Amino acid sequence: MRVLVCGGAGYIGSHTCVALAERGHEVVVVDNFCNSSPVVAERLQRITGRAPDVLRIDIRDAQTLGRVFSGDRFDAVIHFAALKAVGESCEKPLDYFDNNIAGTIALLKAMQAAGVRRLVFSSSATVYGDPASVPIDEDAALSATNPYGRTKLVMEQLIGDVCAADPAWQAISLRYFNPVGAHPSGLIGESPNGIPNNLMPYICQVAVGKRERLQVFGGDWPTVDGTGVRDYIHVMDLAQAHVHALEALDGVQGHLPLNLGVGRGVSVLELVRAFEAASGRTVPYAIVDRRAGDVAAVYADPARAERILGWRAIRDVDDMCRDAWRWQSMNPDGYADG
Ligand SMILES: NC(=O)c1ccc[n+]([C@@H]2O[C@H](COP(=O)([O-])OP(=O)(O)OC[C@H]3O[C@@H](n4cnc5c(N)ncnc54)[C@H](O)[C@@H]3O)[C@@H](O)[C@H]2O)c1
Repeated sequence: MRVLVCGGAGYIGSHTCVALAERGHEVVVVDNFCNSSPVVAERLQRITGRAPDVLRIDIRDAQTLGRVFSGDRFDAVIHFAALKAVGESCEKPLDYFDNNIAGTIALLKAMQAAGVRRLVFSSSATVYGDPASVPIDEDAALSATNPYGRTKLVMEQLIGDVCAADPAWQAISLRYFNPVGAHPSGLIGESPNGIPNNLMPYICQVAVGKRERLQVFGGDWPTVDGTGVRDYIHVMDLAQAHVHALEALDGVQGHLPLNLGVGRGVSVLELVRAFEAASGRTVPYAIVDRRAGDVAAVYADPARAERILGWRAIRDVDDMCRDAWRWQSMNPDGYADG
């Protein structure tokens, strides 16, 4: 297939470009690089032997996006392009509504106009808000606990409404749990700007000596060791799920949400210990107060994705830590290293 990958220079998008290329799909990337680096194209070339076409475009620029669709023939779109930092979304909600929601509307309009009606969308477990129970399946109640989560919920709803209005549309929303790790080459990985929002990149930066210690928010949760439990999934498993989703679109009616997780919870301290074993480094940490809005344990029931996509996560926590560490130690400053 010829696939337009919006936000394809980012963390999950770049790994998905590798998985797509390995399956023989042709990729065109659209990205405005607001949270990524053009260096990615050269890294993808080194991994796959072929750099994808990369276009510097903001998906809200309807005219330019329209020209991309009218000048090419795409079989489907994968939509990663969004801002994703929860804390920042609380400070700048309008930026998040504009980028994520207006961006998605512009993309859906451009697809509609070009007659491209197959979409794989990057959603998130954040659409489950504060879940009533775990594991979480796709029928669990949806809610938003912050502006970022609200944008993901609205983006899913927009896609659902477009599919309901026109049965020719086929869309899968992939609700990611906690993506971590990197491509085993160490050439691509997560390269956060400033202070990392997520646990694994923070652990990596402590291990490499860029930050003094990890703050663990809460040591008195009702979990195995008192620290928060999440469902970490290797980014290459996630990338491969996108290929499966793309190839499953033909059989989908309307809008289908699917969880992408391992289905097993791992605590903060379990992850720290696995990382120490994989890296041979010590990760100093301090247990501090819980953060407002956090919950004890979140993990997926991934059975529906397994059934419909014929996909299952196969990499374990040791793989995640080893690959994250290889990326971090080869690129201590992320793509800023060139
Ligand atoms: N990483 C996670 O933990 C996680 C978890 C759940 C869901 N998601 C979702 O997955 C998607 C990808 O996440 P990621 O971790 O790869 O993030 P990322 O920031 O690395 O990638 C997003 C990419 O989209 C680009 N982008 C953003 N707005 C754009 C716009 N208006 N026009 C063009 N390009 C734009 C950015 O430059 C970046 O390259 C996001 O939609 C995010 O909400 C991520």
